[in-house]
Amino acid sequence: MRKLPAIESDYLLEFEELPGYDEGRVLWEEAFGRSMPLRIEVGVGNSPFLIEVASREPGYNYLGLEYSHKRVRKFLLKVRKAGLDNIRMLHLNSDRLFGDYIPPGSVDHLFVNFPDPWPKRRHEKKRFIATERLRLATKLLRPGGGFSLRTDAKDYALEALEALEANEALENLSTPGSWASEPLYPFETPYETRFKAQGLRIYYFEYRRRQEPS
Ligand SMILES: C[S@@+](CC[C@H](N)C(=O)[O-])C[C@H]1O[C@@H](n2cnc3c(N)ncnc32)[C@H](O)[C@@H]1O
Repeated sequence: MRKLPAIESDYLLEFEELPGYDEGRVLWEEAFGRSMPLRIEVGVGNSPFLIEVASREPGYNYLGLEYSHKRVRKFLLKVRKAGLDNIRMLHLNSDRLFGDYIPPGSVDHLFVNFPDPWPKRRHEKKRFIATERLRLATKLLRPGGGFSLRTDAKDYALEALEALEANEALENLSTPGSWASEPLYPFETPYETRFKAQGLRIYYFEYRRRQEPS
């Protein structure tokens, strides 16, 4: 296999070198050097979405996850240009992180913009909204923490709606049983711009983790 050149950037975290990695629970505030709640985007791609959210709401630590080498490189260049000190990136598959390494109930917001739809039935377990993956992701959210997802794929949207509505830990911020008419964070991603130009409809999902019963 072709060896890809190493990416060097102050904004790129090395997973195995993160504080707390050896104990299986990363100390995120230490990793960022700032004591702020954590927000995560899965599958950043080549999108400035996280940069835009971080510029508007700077009081958080923002972590972008992406497994494509080329897209990691491009995103990091954008972060450097934006000059923000509250964004970091990990070059990995979110599955490596979500089963462990993030304390349950500690994430303020999770964003998933245009997840790969994996339309073939034999790939259904790879979808982000597959039951077990969604369960793990939900557990990471603090009570009241947000979960935002958007997609252009109708079948995926229908499956997401079913999975999200069936998840008792989550509360629909829009009308129960339906997707949202607009996103909480109205920043368009490159995929969104492309799909909209093709006249495709975009499905938005805005949920939050319910407060624990007292
Ligand atoms: C369809 S693209 C969308 C990119 C961007 N969010 C946007 O809206 O323009 C999906 C991106 O998610 C990345 N990706 C998919 N699953 C991932 C995972 N489990 N962990 C990290 N990156 C993932 C892919 O490499 C790809 O860059």
